[in-house]
Amino acid sequence: MHLISLLTCLAAVSLAAPTNFLDDAYDWSDELADFYGTVSQFISSAKHNIRSPDACDISKIALPSYASGLPGPTGLKPVYVALGRGTQNYTCASSSSNTTPVAAGAVARLYNATCLAANYPSIVEKLPSIAYKITLPTNELASFPPANIELMGHHFFFDATTPEFNLNTTPDKQDGIVMSKKQGQIAAPSDATSGKYGAVAWLYLTTTDGTIGNYKSVYRVDTAAGSPPKTCKGLPAAFQIQYSANYYFFGE
Ligand SMILES: *[C@@H]1O[C@H](CO)[C@@H](O)[C@H](O)[C@H]1NC(C)=O
Ligand SMILES: *[C@@H]1O[C@H](CO)[C@@H](O)[C@H](O)[C@H]1NC(C)=O
Repeated sequence: MHLISLLTCLAAVSLAAPTNFLDDAYDWSDELADFYGTVSQFISSAKHNIRSPDACDISKIALPSYASGLPGPTGLKPVYVALGRGTQNYTCASSSSNTTPVAAGAVARLYNATCLAANYPSIVEKLPSIAYKITLPTNELASFPPANIELMGHHFFFDATTPEFNLNTTPDKQDGIVMSKKQGQIAAPSDATSGKYGAVAWLYLTTTDGTIGNYKSVYRVDTAAGSPPKTCKGLPAAFQIQYSANYYFFGE
């Protein structure tokens, strides 16, 4: 994607008030100011090559440095980077303050941030903090509005302990299926965009039986929001919390 179109789209987002969020009590301006600071640094540093065709050297993709708290992708190569935007699901056994919400899967759309991650890692790092405040387009197959990045798949749970990433979107775009298992996690960094109840952990997943394609591990990083309230007080039996994150896929 062309940097100019990305920047134009991002600029348009600042005009639209964030709406339709379950947990809309957040500090919008600090994050946005920070984000635009980064974008303007890019405008000055990228001026000389802004009109050259986008090179997309996937081998340049690297996990954000905070992910070094998780086992590394030793011997593996980056395959894709996806911006995920959706909800984390929770259940509550009762609505009292002495029960705590229990994680019950997630549902998210995945958007292809691979070339952005190769070329503009510090923009990609900030995308989830902006993305989680933006309502998904009603058209399932549409690109993600702020950065115009293409749909590349869907994330959901195959069963209670199996996060699945289905990367088959249209008859022409069949990039496989990733079945996975959680192998490690670290708390999101203290400066993560927390929403009302905190950012979900960064995760390390390895792929399991049923995976189709060259996928060996997946990292969930750069998380924004998604955590539940501390207790079930006043909550229904099942509820969702909006979140966004980047997913890095590695293969052989
Ligand atoms: C999560 O909630 C969504 C929305 O209600 C639902 O469609 C989905 O099936 C739920 N997923 C899981 C794993 O519970
Ligand atoms: C993601 O984008 C890259 C670069 O444009 C492309 O080669 C790849 O096929 C896309 N992947 C998916 C799953 O859409």
